[in-house]
Amino acid sequence: MAFSVAQRSSSVLRLMLRSSNKIGQELAEGPCQHLTKRVVLPSLGPVAIQTASLHGHHGSTKPLVQATGRREVHAGIFNTNAAAPDILPLQGSTVDAAADKTTQASPRVMKRSHLYRFIAEVSQAEITKGQTITSVAHALDDMALNVTWSDGEVQAYPYAWLRDNCLCKQCYQSSLQSRIFSFTSIDVEMIPIYAVPGDEGKTVRLTWPDGHFGEYPSDWLRKHRFENSFTDPTFDSELQYWKTDLIDSGTLRRFNFHDIVSNDEALYEWLMEMKLTGICLVEGAGMVEGQVKHLGDRVLFLRSTYYGPTSHVVVKYNATNIAFTGKAFPMHTDLAFLHRPPGAQMIHCIEQAKGPGGENWFTDGFKVALDLKREDPEAFELLSTTLMEYQDIGEDVYGRFHQHSRHPTISLDRDGNPEHVYLSDHGRMPMMRIPVKNTQALYRALKKFSNMYHHPDNVCAYKLREGDIMTFDNRRVIHGRGSFEVTSNSSRHLETGYLEWDEINSRLRLLQHQFQASM
Ligand code: OGA
Ligand code: ZN
Ligand code: ZN
Repeated sequence: MAFSVAQRSSSVLRLMLRSSNKIGQELAEGPCQHLTKRVVLPSLGPVAIQTASLHGHHGSTKPLVQATGRREVHAGIFNTNAAAPDILPLQGSTVDAAADKTTQASPRVMKRSHLYRFIAEVSQAEITKGQTITSVAHALDDMALNVTWSDGEVQAYPYAWLRDNCLCKQCYQSSLQSRIFSFTSIDVEMIPIYAVPGDEGKTVRLTWPDGHFGEYPSDWLRKHRFENSFTDPTFDSELQYWKTDLIDSGTLRRFNFHDIVSNDEALYEWLMEMKLTGICLVEGAGMVEGQVKHLGDRVLFLRSTYYGPTSHVVVKYNATNIAFTGKAFPMHTDLAFLHRPPGAQMIHCIEQAKGPGGENWFTDGFKVALDLKREDPEAFELLSTTLMEYQDIGEDVYGRFHQHSRHPTISLDRDGNPEHVYLSDHGRMPMMRIPVKNTQALYRALKKFSNMYHHPDNVCAYKLREGDIMTFDNRRVIHGRGSFEVTSNSSRHLETGYLEWDEINSRLRLLQHQFQASM
Protein backbone atom coordinates (compact mmCIF):
# COMPACT_ATOMS: atom_id res chain seq x y z
CA MET A 1 0.00 0.00 0.00
CA ALA A 2 1.51 3.26 -1.05
CA PHE A 3 0.45 5.57 1.70
CA SER A 4 2.75 8.21 3.05
CA VAL A 5 2.76 8.87 6.78
CA ALA A 6 0.91 12.13 6.26
CA GLN A 7 -1.76 10.49 4.10
CA ARG A 8 -2.16 7.80 6.70
CA SER A 9 -2.56 10.38 9.40
CA SER A 10 -5.39 12.03 7.57
CA SER A 11 -7.12 8.71 7.08
CA VAL A 12 -6.62 8.16 10.81
CA LEU A 13 -8.15 11.52 11.31
CA ARG A 14 -11.19 10.55 9.26
CA LEU A 15 -11.46 7.36 11.26
CA MET A 16 -11.32 9.27 14.49
CA LEU A 17 -13.61 12.03 13.39
CA ARG A 18 -16.22 9.47 12.44
CA SER A 19 -16.46 8.73 16.14
CA SER A 20 -19.54 10.36 17.45
CA ASN A 21 -20.64 11.13 21.00
CA LYS A 22 -18.35 11.27 24.01
CA ILE A 23 -15.46 9.15 22.90
CA GLY A 24 -15.19 11.31 19.83
CA GLN A 25 -15.15 14.27 22.13
CA GLU A 26 -12.47 12.69 24.27
CA LEU A 27 -10.34 11.89 21.26
CA ALA A 28 -10.86 15.36 19.93
CA GLU A 29 -9.72 16.88 23.19
CA GLY A 30 -6.58 14.76 23.16
CA PRO A 31 -4.67 13.47 20.16
CA CYS A 32 -7.08 14.68 17.52
CA GLN A 33 -6.17 18.23 18.35
CA HIS A 34 -2.67 17.41 17.22
CA LEU A 35 -3.88 15.66 14.15
CA THR A 36 -6.25 18.36 13.06
CA LYS A 37 -3.68 21.06 13.61
CA ARG A 38 -0.57 19.48 12.24
CA VAL A 39 -1.46 16.24 10.47
CA VAL A 40 1.80 14.72 11.64
CA LEU A 41 2.44 11.98 14.11
CA PRO A 42 3.50 13.64 17.34
CA SER A 43 5.74 11.89 19.80
CA LEU A 44 3.88 9.34 21.83
CA GLY A 45 3.21 9.13 25.53
CA PRO A 46 1.34 11.18 28.06
CA VAL A 47 1.73 14.94 28.12
CA ALA A 48 1.60 16.72 31.44
CA ILE A 49 -0.39 19.90 31.17
CA GLN A 50 -0.39 22.38 34.01
CA THR A 51 -3.61 24.26 33.77
CA ALA A 52 -6.46 25.19 36.01
CA SER A 53 -9.08 24.84 33.33
CA LEU A 54 -8.17 21.22 32.74
CA HIS A 55 -8.69 20.33 36.34
CA GLY A 56 -11.60 17.97 35.98
CA HIS A 57 -15.04 18.12 37.40
CA HIS A 58 -14.17 15.45 39.92
CA GLY A 59 -11.05 17.09 41.15
CA SER A 60 -12.38 18.16 44.50
CA THR A 61 -10.06 18.24 47.44
CA LYS A 62 -12.93 18.17 49.88
CA PRO A 63 -12.89 15.00 51.92
CA LEU A 64 -15.97 12.87 51.65
CA VAL A 65 -16.13 12.14 55.34
CA GLN A 66 -14.55 14.14 58.05
CA ALA A 67 -11.56 12.40 59.48
CA THR A 68 -12.09 11.20 63.00
CA GLY A 69 -10.30 7.87 63.01
CA ARG A 70 -6.73 6.74 63.29
CA ARG A 71 -4.23 8.71 61.36
CA GLU A 72 -0.99 6.80 61.52
CA VAL A 73 0.92 7.35 58.36
CA HIS A 74 1.60 3.69 57.75
CA ALA A 75 -1.53 2.05 58.98
CA GLY A 76 -5.20 2.12 59.55
CA ILE A 77 -6.99 2.87 56.33
CA PHE A 78 -9.83 1.03 57.88
CA ASN A 79 -10.74 -0.07 61.29
CA THR A 80 -12.74 -3.25 61.04
CA ASN A 81 -14.15 -2.79 64.52
CA ALA A 82 -15.33 0.72 63.96
CA ALA A 83 -19.05 1.23 63.94
CA ALA A 84 -18.44 4.72 62.66
CA PRO A 85 -17.53 5.29 59.01
CA ASP A 86 -13.97 4.38 58.08
CA ILE A 87 -11.63 7.16 57.39
CA LEU A 88 -8.92 7.46 54.87
CA PRO A 89 -6.19 9.88 55.84
CA LEU A 90 -6.13 11.11 52.31
CA GLN A 91 -6.75 14.80 52.22
CA GLY A 92 -6.85 15.76 48.59
CA SER A 93 -7.57 12.40 47.08
CA THR A 94 -10.96 11.54 48.44
CA VAL A 95 -13.57 12.49 45.95
CA ASP A 96 -16.97 13.90 46.58
CA ALA A 97 -18.96 13.73 43.41
CA ALA A 98 -21.18 16.56 44.53
CA ALA A 99 -18.39 18.77 45.80
CA ASP A 100 -17.83 22.21 44.39
CA LYS A 101 -15.78 22.33 41.23
CA THR A 102 -13.56 25.31 41.77
CA THR A 103 -10.44 23.77 43.22
CA GLN A 104 -6.83 24.61 42.77
CA ALA A 105 -5.02 23.26 39.75
CA SER A 106 -2.71 20.29 39.88
CA PRO A 107 -0.60 18.86 37.08
CA ARG A 108 -2.99 16.85 34.98
CA VAL A 109 -1.94 14.14 32.62
CA MET A 110 -3.60 14.44 29.26
CA LYS A 111 -3.34 11.02 27.74
CA ARG A 112 -3.12 10.25 24.10
CA SER A 113 -5.72 7.75 23.05
CA HIS A 114 -4.63 4.15 22.71
CA LEU A 115 -6.24 3.96 19.30
CA TYR A 116 -4.12 6.86 18.18
CA ARG A 117 -0.98 5.15 19.41
CA PHE A 118 -1.95 1.93 17.67
CA ILE A 119 -2.58 3.73 14.41
CA ALA A 120 0.75 5.52 14.69
CA GLU A 121 2.47 2.16 15.16
CA VAL A 122 0.63 0.62 12.22
CA SER A 123 1.58 3.60 10.08
CA GLN A 124 5.17 3.08 11.07
CA ALA A 125 5.00 -0.58 10.07
CA GLU A 126 3.19 0.16 6.81
CA ILE A 127 5.95 2.33 5.43
CA THR A 128 8.36 -0.61 5.60
CA LYS A 129 6.09 -2.71 3.38
CA GLY A 130 6.47 -3.34 -0.33
CA GLN A 131 10.28 -3.57 -0.33
CA THR A 132 11.79 -6.00 -2.83
CA ILE A 133 14.34 -8.67 -1.99
CA THR A 134 17.61 -8.06 -3.81
CA SER A 135 19.65 -11.08 -2.70
CA VAL A 136 19.74 -14.13 -0.44
CA ALA A 137 22.73 -15.99 1.01
CA HIS A 138 23.64 -18.60 3.58
CA ALA A 139 24.32 -17.29 7.07
CA LEU A 140 25.14 -18.59 10.54
CA ASP A 141 27.25 -21.60 9.52
CA ASP A 142 24.82 -22.33 6.72
CA MET A 143 21.95 -22.86 9.19
CA ALA A 144 20.09 -19.71 8.19
CA LEU A 145 19.20 -17.63 5.15
CA ASN A 146 20.27 -14.00 4.99
CA VAL A 147 17.73 -11.90 3.13
CA THR A 148 18.67 -8.43 1.84
CA TRP A 149 16.04 -5.89 0.78
CA SER A 150 16.24 -2.91 -1.54
CA ASP A 151 16.13 -0.49 1.40
CA GLY A 152 19.30 -2.07 2.86
CA GLU A 153 17.55 -4.14 5.55
CA VAL A 154 19.18 -7.53 6.17
CA GLN A 155 17.60 -10.28 8.25
CA ALA A 156 18.55 -13.89 8.91
CA TYR A 157 15.93 -16.68 8.97
CA PRO A 158 16.91 -20.12 10.32
CA TYR A 159 16.30 -22.97 7.88
CA ALA A 160 14.59 -25.10 10.52
CA TRP A 161 12.19 -22.21 11.08
CA LEU A 162 11.61 -21.70 7.35
CA ARG A 163 10.79 -25.38 6.90
CA ASP A 164 8.54 -25.36 9.98
CA ASN A 165 6.71 -22.31 8.63
CA CYS A 166 6.42 -23.40 5.02
CA LEU A 167 3.36 -21.77 3.46
CA CYS A 168 2.76 -24.30 0.66
CA LYS A 169 -0.65 -25.98 0.42
CA GLN A 170 0.70 -29.25 1.83
CA CYS A 171 2.02 -27.50 4.93
CA TYR A 172 -0.36 -24.60 5.58
CA GLN A 173 -4.08 -24.10 5.07
CA SER A 174 -4.97 -20.47 4.82
CA SER A 175 -8.66 -21.00 5.64
CA LEU A 176 -7.54 -22.46 8.98
CA GLN A 177 -4.68 -20.00 9.31
CA SER A 178 -2.68 -22.90 10.58
CA ARG A 179 0.00 -25.44 9.93
CA ILE A 180 -1.49 -28.77 8.81
CA PHE A 181 1.48 -31.16 8.98
CA SER A 182 2.84 -33.04 11.93
CA PHE A 183 6.13 -31.91 13.35
CA THR A 184 7.27 -35.54 13.24
CA SER A 185 7.46 -35.28 9.42
CA ILE A 186 10.14 -32.59 9.21
CA ASP A 187 13.89 -32.80 9.45
CA VAL A 188 15.13 -29.80 11.41
CA GLU A 189 18.68 -30.21 10.08
CA MET A 190 17.73 -29.68 6.43
CA ILE A 191 19.45 -27.00 4.37
CA PRO A 192 17.77 -26.01 1.08
CA ILE A 193 19.52 -26.90 -2.15
CA TYR A 194 18.20 -23.78 -3.91
CA ALA A 195 17.28 -20.37 -2.48
CA VAL A 196 16.42 -17.58 -4.91
CA PRO A 197 14.40 -14.38 -4.92
CA GLY A 198 11.24 -14.89 -7.00
CA ASP A 199 8.49 -12.81 -8.58
CA GLU A 200 10.79 -9.82 -9.09
CA GLY A 201 11.92 -9.78 -5.48
CA LYS A 202 8.47 -10.11 -3.95
CA THR A 203 9.23 -13.62 -2.62
CA VAL A 204 11.99 -16.05 -1.71
CA ARG A 205 11.78 -19.56 -3.18
CA LEU A 206 13.35 -22.53 -1.44
CA THR A 207 13.83 -26.06 -2.69
CA TRP A 208 14.63 -28.63 -0.03
CA PRO A 209 16.79 -31.78 -0.50
CA ASP A 210 13.67 -34.01 -0.34
CA GLY A 211 12.16 -32.11 -3.27
CA HIS A 212 9.75 -30.04 -1.13
CA PHE A 213 9.24 -26.50 -2.46
CA GLY A 214 8.20 -23.40 -0.52
CA GLU A 215 7.72 -19.73 -1.34
CA TYR A 216 7.80 -16.93 1.25
CA PRO A 217 6.41 -13.44 0.51
CA SER A 218 8.72 -10.52 1.20
CA ASP A 219 6.26 -8.68 3.49
CA TRP A 220 5.61 -11.88 5.43
CA LEU A 221 9.35 -12.27 6.04
CA ARG A 222 9.64 -8.63 7.12
CA LYS A 223 6.71 -9.04 9.48
CA HIS A 224 8.28 -12.14 11.02
CA ARG A 225 11.80 -10.91 11.42
CA PHE A 226 13.56 -12.25 14.51
CA GLU A 227 15.40 -9.13 15.54
CA ASN A 228 13.97 -5.60 15.89
CA SER A 229 10.47 -6.92 15.38
CA PHE A 230 7.59 -4.51 15.91
CA THR A 231 6.12 -4.49 19.38
CA ASP A 232 2.80 -6.20 19.86
CA PRO A 233 0.41 -3.76 21.57
CA THR A 234 -1.43 -6.49 23.44
CA PHE A 235 1.79 -7.92 24.89
CA ASP A 236 4.43 -5.24 24.94
CA SER A 237 2.72 -1.98 25.82
CA GLU A 238 4.12 -0.13 28.79
CA LEU A 239 2.13 -0.01 31.99
CA GLN A 240 1.31 3.33 33.53
CA TYR A 241 1.71 3.31 37.31
CA TRP A 242 -0.27 5.57 39.61
CA LYS A 243 -0.73 6.55 43.20
CA THR A 244 -3.10 8.44 45.44
CA ASP A 245 -3.72 11.25 42.95
CA LEU A 246 -5.06 8.82 40.33
CA ILE A 247 -8.16 10.96 40.00
CA ASP A 248 -6.82 14.44 40.68
CA SER A 249 -3.93 14.01 38.25
CA GLY A 250 -6.31 13.05 35.46
CA THR A 251 -4.79 9.58 35.21
CA LEU A 252 -8.16 7.93 35.84
CA ARG A 253 -9.97 7.89 32.54
CA ARG A 254 -13.74 7.96 32.41
CA PHE A 255 -15.87 6.41 29.74
CA ASN A 256 -19.56 6.55 29.10
CA PHE A 257 -21.35 3.20 29.41
CA HIS A 258 -23.49 3.72 26.30
CA ASP A 259 -20.43 4.70 24.25
CA ILE A 260 -18.75 1.43 25.13
CA VAL A 261 -21.86 -0.53 24.26
CA SER A 262 -22.36 1.20 20.90
CA ASN A 263 -18.96 2.43 19.76
CA ASP A 264 -15.96 0.26 18.95
CA GLU A 265 -13.40 3.00 19.47
CA ALA A 266 -14.74 3.57 22.99
CA LEU A 267 -14.61 -0.17 23.59
CA TYR A 268 -10.98 -0.22 22.49
CA GLU A 269 -10.00 2.75 24.64
CA TRP A 270 -11.70 1.28 27.69
CA LEU A 271 -10.06 -2.13 27.43
CA MET A 272 -6.63 -0.76 26.60
CA GLU A 273 -6.86 1.64 29.53
CA MET A 274 -7.76 -1.19 31.89
CA LYS A 275 -4.76 -3.04 30.58
CA LEU A 276 -2.18 -0.27 30.85
CA THR A 277 -3.33 1.88 33.77
CA GLY A 278 -5.11 -1.08 35.30
CA ILE A 279 -8.18 0.92 36.25
CA CYS A 280 -10.80 3.18 34.71
CA LEU A 281 -14.31 4.35 35.39
CA VAL A 282 -17.37 3.68 33.29
CA GLU A 283 -20.12 6.19 33.99
CA GLY A 284 -23.80 6.44 33.20
CA ALA A 285 -24.77 2.77 33.53
CA GLY A 286 -27.91 3.62 35.48
CA MET A 287 -29.34 1.83 38.47
CA VAL A 288 -30.45 -1.40 36.82
CA GLU A 289 -28.98 -4.88 37.06
CA GLY A 290 -27.38 -6.59 34.07
CA GLN A 291 -25.09 -3.76 32.97
CA VAL A 292 -21.83 -5.62 33.70
CA LYS A 293 -23.21 -8.45 31.55
CA HIS A 294 -23.65 -5.93 28.71
CA LEU A 295 -19.98 -4.96 29.06
CA GLY A 296 -19.02 -8.65 29.20
CA ASP A 297 -20.96 -9.27 25.98
CA ARG A 298 -18.99 -6.49 24.29
CA VAL A 299 -15.76 -8.26 25.20
CA LEU A 300 -16.87 -11.85 24.57
CA PHE A 301 -18.29 -13.30 27.75
CA LEU A 302 -18.11 -12.83 31.51
CA ARG A 303 -16.03 -15.07 33.71
CA SER A 304 -18.40 -16.89 36.03
CA THR A 305 -17.32 -17.96 39.46
CA TYR A 306 -18.85 -19.98 42.24
CA TYR A 307 -20.59 -16.73 43.28
CA GLY A 308 -22.53 -16.83 40.01
CA PRO A 309 -22.30 -15.27 36.53
CA THR A 310 -22.28 -11.93 38.35
CA SER A 311 -22.41 -11.31 42.06
CA HIS A 312 -24.69 -9.02 44.02
CA VAL A 313 -22.82 -7.38 46.86
CA VAL A 314 -25.53 -6.52 49.38
CA VAL A 315 -25.73 -6.93 53.12
CA LYS A 316 -27.06 -10.43 53.80
CA TYR A 317 -28.46 -11.72 57.03
CA ASN A 318 -26.48 -14.98 56.99
CA ALA A 319 -23.33 -13.76 55.26
CA THR A 320 -20.51 -16.27 54.74
CA ASN A 321 -18.20 -13.64 53.26
CA ILE A 322 -17.23 -10.24 54.62
CA ALA A 323 -18.33 -8.72 51.29
CA PHE A 324 -21.94 -9.31 52.25
CA THR A 325 -21.76 -7.36 55.49
CA GLY A 326 -21.62 -3.65 56.23
CA LYS A 327 -18.13 -4.02 57.70
CA ALA A 328 -15.05 -2.48 56.18
CA PHE A 329 -13.62 -4.91 53.64
CA PRO A 330 -9.84 -4.87 54.07
CA MET A 331 -7.60 -4.34 51.05
CA HIS A 332 -7.51 -7.45 48.86
CA THR A 333 -7.51 -8.84 45.37
CA ASP A 334 -10.59 -10.85 44.52
CA LEU A 335 -10.81 -14.60 44.91
CA ALA A 336 -7.22 -15.29 45.92
CA PHE A 337 -8.70 -18.60 47.12
CA LEU A 338 -8.73 -19.76 43.50
CA HIS A 339 -5.64 -20.92 41.65
CA ARG A 340 -6.84 -18.85 38.73
CA PRO A 341 -8.64 -15.81 40.12
CA PRO A 342 -10.54 -13.64 37.64
CA GLY A 343 -8.30 -11.39 35.55
CA ALA A 344 -10.36 -8.22 35.63
CA GLN A 345 -13.22 -6.94 37.64
CA MET A 346 -16.19 -4.59 37.17
CA ILE A 347 -18.06 -3.13 40.12
CA HIS A 348 -21.36 -1.52 39.22
CA CYS A 349 -22.90 0.68 41.88
CA ILE A 350 -26.64 0.22 41.60
CA GLU A 351 -27.39 1.74 44.98
CA GLN A 352 -24.94 3.55 47.23
CA ALA A 353 -25.15 3.93 51.01
CA LYS A 354 -26.73 7.32 51.65
CA GLY A 355 -24.86 7.95 54.87
CA PRO A 356 -21.13 8.16 55.33
CA GLY A 357 -18.89 5.22 54.45
CA GLY A 358 -19.12 2.64 51.70
CA GLU A 359 -16.34 4.29 49.72
CA ASN A 360 -13.80 2.15 47.83
CA TRP A 361 -10.02 2.23 48.05
CA PHE A 362 -7.72 1.34 45.22
CA THR A 363 -3.94 0.87 45.18
CA ASP A 364 -1.70 0.07 42.21
CA GLY A 365 -0.33 -3.25 43.51
CA PHE A 366 2.33 -3.50 40.81
CA LYS A 367 3.62 -0.03 41.61
CA VAL A 368 3.92 -0.76 45.34
CA ALA A 369 5.45 -4.19 44.64
CA LEU A 370 8.13 -2.48 42.54
CA ASP A 371 8.62 0.11 45.31
CA LEU A 372 9.16 -2.76 47.75
CA LYS A 373 11.62 -4.43 45.37
CA ARG A 374 13.64 -1.22 45.29
CA GLU A 375 13.42 -0.44 49.00
CA ASP A 376 13.73 -3.91 50.47
CA PRO A 377 14.80 -6.58 47.95
CA GLU A 378 14.86 -9.27 50.63
CA ALA A 379 11.25 -8.63 51.66
CA PHE A 380 10.29 -8.63 47.99
CA GLU A 381 12.11 -11.93 47.48
CA LEU A 382 10.28 -13.48 50.44
CA LEU A 383 6.86 -12.33 49.23
CA SER A 384 7.49 -13.52 45.71
CA THR A 385 8.70 -16.99 46.74
CA THR A 386 6.82 -17.98 49.91
CA LEU A 387 3.53 -19.70 49.24
CA MET A 388 0.60 -18.56 51.33
CA GLU A 389 -2.60 -20.55 51.57
CA TYR A 390 -6.12 -19.17 51.17
CA GLN A 391 -9.55 -20.64 51.61
CA ASP A 392 -13.18 -19.76 51.09
CA ILE A 393 -15.86 -22.03 52.49
CA GLY A 394 -19.55 -21.33 52.15
CA GLU A 395 -22.60 -21.53 49.98
CA ASP A 396 -23.90 -19.35 47.17
CA VAL A 397 -26.01 -19.52 44.01
CA TYR A 398 -24.59 -22.83 42.74
CA GLY A 399 -24.47 -24.52 46.16
CA ARG A 400 -21.76 -25.26 48.67
CA PHE A 401 -18.07 -24.74 47.99
CA HIS A 402 -14.69 -25.25 49.62
CA GLN A 403 -11.96 -23.39 47.78
CA HIS A 404 -8.29 -23.63 48.77
CA SER A 405 -5.26 -22.22 46.95
CA ARG A 406 -1.53 -21.62 47.35
CA HIS A 407 0.10 -18.49 45.98
CA PRO A 408 3.07 -16.25 46.59
CA THR A 409 1.84 -12.80 47.65
CA ILE A 410 3.57 -11.22 44.65
CA SER A 411 3.78 -13.56 41.70
CA LEU A 412 6.44 -12.64 39.11
CA ASP A 413 6.73 -13.15 35.39
CA ARG A 414 9.84 -14.51 33.69
CA ASP A 415 11.45 -11.07 33.69
CA GLY A 416 10.98 -10.76 37.44
CA ASN A 417 8.16 -8.19 37.15
CA PRO A 418 5.00 -8.45 39.24
CA GLU A 419 2.35 -10.34 37.33
CA HIS A 420 -0.28 -11.08 39.94
CA VAL A 421 -0.75 -9.86 43.49
CA TYR A 422 -2.66 -12.33 45.66
CA LEU A 423 -4.03 -10.74 48.79
CA SER A 424 -6.81 -11.79 51.07
CA ASP A 425 -6.26 -11.23 54.74
CA HIS A 426 -9.70 -12.59 55.51
CA GLY A 427 -9.10 -15.81 53.54
CA ARG A 428 -5.44 -16.32 54.48
CA MET A 429 -5.13 -19.63 56.33
CA PRO A 430 -3.12 -20.36 59.48
CA MET A 431 -1.32 -23.11 57.57
CA MET A 432 2.35 -22.10 57.09
CA ARG A 433 4.49 -24.79 55.55
CA ILE A 434 7.76 -22.94 56.16
CA PRO A 435 10.51 -23.41 58.72
CA VAL A 436 9.46 -21.80 62.00
CA LYS A 437 12.64 -19.74 62.08
CA ASN A 438 11.68 -18.04 58.79
CA THR A 439 8.31 -16.86 59.99
CA GLN A 440 9.28 -13.56 61.58
CA ALA A 441 11.04 -12.34 58.47
CA LEU A 442 8.00 -13.28 56.39
CA TYR A 443 5.65 -11.38 58.71
CA ARG A 444 7.93 -8.35 58.59
CA ALA A 445 7.85 -8.48 54.81
CA LEU A 446 4.06 -8.83 54.76
CA LYS A 447 3.76 -5.91 57.16
CA LYS A 448 6.08 -3.76 55.10
CA PHE A 449 4.11 -4.49 51.94
CA SER A 450 0.85 -3.86 53.79
CA ASN A 451 2.15 -0.50 55.04
CA MET A 452 2.94 0.38 51.46
CA TYR A 453 -0.38 -0.53 49.88
CA HIS A 454 -2.21 1.23 52.72
CA HIS A 455 0.04 4.28 52.59
CA PRO A 456 -1.83 7.56 51.97
CA ASP A 457 0.54 8.28 49.10
CA ASN A 458 -0.60 5.15 47.34
CA VAL A 459 -4.29 4.68 48.08
CA CYS A 460 -6.93 6.35 45.96
CA ALA A 461 -10.37 6.64 47.56
CA TYR A 462 -13.54 7.00 45.56
CA LYS A 463 -17.14 6.64 46.63
CA LEU A 464 -18.92 5.16 43.65
CA ARG A 465 -21.94 7.06 42.49
CA GLU A 466 -25.05 5.22 41.40
CA GLY A 467 -24.52 4.34 37.74
CA ASP A 468 -20.72 4.12 38.05
CA ILE A 469 -18.88 0.95 37.11
CA MET A 470 -15.29 0.85 38.33
CA THR A 471 -13.35 -1.55 36.12
CA PHE A 472 -9.86 -2.78 36.96
CA ASP A 473 -7.17 -5.41 36.62
CA ASN A 474 -7.73 -7.85 39.46
CA ARG A 475 -4.16 -9.12 39.17
CA ARG A 476 -2.87 -5.65 39.90
CA VAL A 477 -5.29 -3.38 41.72
CA ILE A 478 -5.58 -3.98 45.45
CA HIS A 479 -8.95 -2.72 46.62
CA GLY A 480 -11.16 -2.48 49.66
CA ARG A 481 -14.23 -0.78 51.02
CA GLY A 482 -15.15 1.38 53.99
CA SER A 483 -17.85 0.24 56.39
CA PHE A 484 -21.35 1.60 56.03
CA GLU A 485 -24.67 1.30 57.74
CA VAL A 486 -27.85 -0.14 56.33
CA THR A 487 -30.89 1.71 57.65
CA SER A 488 -34.59 1.72 56.82
CA ASN A 489 -33.99 4.29 54.09
CA SER A 490 -30.45 3.43 52.97
CA SER A 491 -29.07 0.22 51.55
CA ARG A 492 -26.16 -0.51 49.25
CA HIS A 493 -26.16 -2.72 46.17
CA LEU A 494 -23.27 -3.46 43.86
CA GLU A 495 -23.28 -5.90 40.98
CA THR A 496 -19.83 -7.25 40.24
CA GLY A 497 -18.71 -9.19 37.19
CA TYR A 498 -15.40 -10.56 35.98
CA LEU A 499 -13.54 -10.76 32.70
CA GLU A 500 -10.52 -12.78 31.65
CA TRP A 501 -7.51 -11.22 29.96
CA ASP A 502 -7.55 -13.74 27.11
CA GLU A 503 -10.98 -12.50 26.13
CA ILE A 504 -10.00 -8.84 26.59
CA ASN A 505 -6.86 -9.29 24.49
CA SER A 506 -8.81 -11.18 21.86
CA ARG A 507 -11.28 -8.29 21.58
CA LEU A 508 -8.43 -5.77 21.40
CA ARG A 509 -6.84 -7.69 18.52
CA LEU A 510 -10.12 -8.00 16.63
CA LEU A 511 -10.68 -4.27 17.03
CA GLN A 512 -7.14 -3.57 15.83
CA HIS A 513 -7.77 -5.64 12.69
CA GLN A 514 -11.01 -3.77 12.15
CA PHE A 515 -9.40 -0.33 12.55
CA GLN A 516 -6.53 -1.33 10.31
CA ALA A 517 -8.89 -2.56 7.61
CA SER A 518 -10.73 0.76 7.61
CA MET A 519 -7.57 2.84 7.27
C1 OGA B 1 -15.76 -7.49 46.91
C2 OGA B 1 -15.48 -6.05 47.06
C3 OGA B 1 -16.32 -3.87 47.34
C4 OGA B 1 -17.46 -3.13 47.91
O1 OGA B 1 -16.93 -7.88 47.07
O2 OGA B 1 -14.81 -8.24 46.61
O3 OGA B 1 -14.36 -5.66 46.90
O4 OGA B 1 -17.48 -1.93 47.75
N1 OGA B 1 -16.51 -5.24 47.33
O5 OGA B 1 -18.35 -3.72 48.54
ZN1 ZN C 1 5.48 -26.89 2.43
ZN1 ZN D 1 -13.13 -7.20 46.04
